[in-house]
Amino acid sequence: MTIHPATPAPLLSVRDLRVTFHDGDVTAVNRFDLDLAPGERVAVVGESGSGKSTSCSAIAGFVTDPGSSVDASVLRFDDADLTRRRRTRMPRRIPEMSMMFQDAMTSLDAVWTVGSQLCDALAADPEVPRRERRARAAGWLERVGIPDAERVLRARPYELSGGMRQRVMLAIALCSRPKLLIADEPTSALDATLSVEMMRLMVELTETAGAALLIVSHDIRLCEAFADRLVVMYRGEVVETIAARNLPLAQHPYTRALADCVPTLGNYDADWLPTIDGPRPVAEPVHAKVA
Ligand SMILES: Nc1ncnc2c1ncn2[C@@H]1O[C@H](COP(=O)(O)OP(=O)(O)OP(=O)(O)O)[C@@H](O)[C@H]1O
Ligand SMILES: [Mg+2]
Repeated sequence: MTIHPATPAPLLSVRDLRVTFHDGDVTAVNRFDLDLAPGERVAVVGESGSGKSTSCSAIAGFVTDPGSSVDASVLRFDDADLTRRRRTRMPRRIPEMSMMFQDAMTSLDAVWTVGSQLCDALAADPEVPRRERRARAAGWLERVGIPDAERVLRARPYELSGGMRQRVMLAIALCSRPKLLIADEPTSALDATLSVEMMRLMVELTETAGAALLIVSHDIRLCEAFADRLVVMYRGEVVETIAARNLPLAQHPYTRALADCVPTLGNYDADWLPTIDGPRPVAEPVHAKVA
């Protein structure tokens, strides 16, 4: 008799997530559903304005603007029911869920050194004694591929290149040993080689830590190579969720169009680059619609 191991309970479950701004005038996310298994890598892809960042920020509890609303029939993380969490003006960090924001320059504080920002993040871990924080911070910089750790600990973010800032953000996000890392466009400011390096690093470090990864990206081809599954969004809705290796078999015409838009050596033609027809994927304020 074959005994099949029970499917692990999802680390994150989201059903019917809906996010609006300006007292309901702007619907940024109309419907987002996802089950994410422990250690799984899922990429949320779609055009600019399709609601990728808003979905992930809402899950992490960072949508707190006055006039905004976040509703879901299910929002569970690591056995906690997040539909019951109170939305306060200052977001409250969810232990064991880390988020890297889209813009590393504005996420890091220009006033404080990299070392003090990393040590602050390490202070959240009660198992790291105060006197060990600096050495641990240097260890994290080495782990994310920054060789001259002592110098970088003393540097301020504006003294670093964009690629180094992204690595610092990754170190800050991972040093608290999260079960889930949400990374919003971690490669958008990097050139093609650095993008691949950054993705490899995130995959390697989260795998070693046993953490799941939810990546937001508009680069469907990069995600095809690094993620287990792809969640495809269009105009605030998930139109298809598909195993990354099955992308060539995608059912939804939008998923296929998105994949076909990426110029490759096979389809590149300077006079004819493929685009996507149809309404642009941004949420428009209801009052701005032409009657
Ligand atoms: N704080 C906000 N107030 C009002 N509207 C917002 C706010 N944040 C996002 N939106 C709107 O919600 C829609 C989705 O935005 P979002 O940033 O989630 O898109 P995205 O898919 O991440 O795009 P990109 O790839 O450009 O980062 C957009 O139309 C945007 O203008
Ligand atoms: Mg975004």
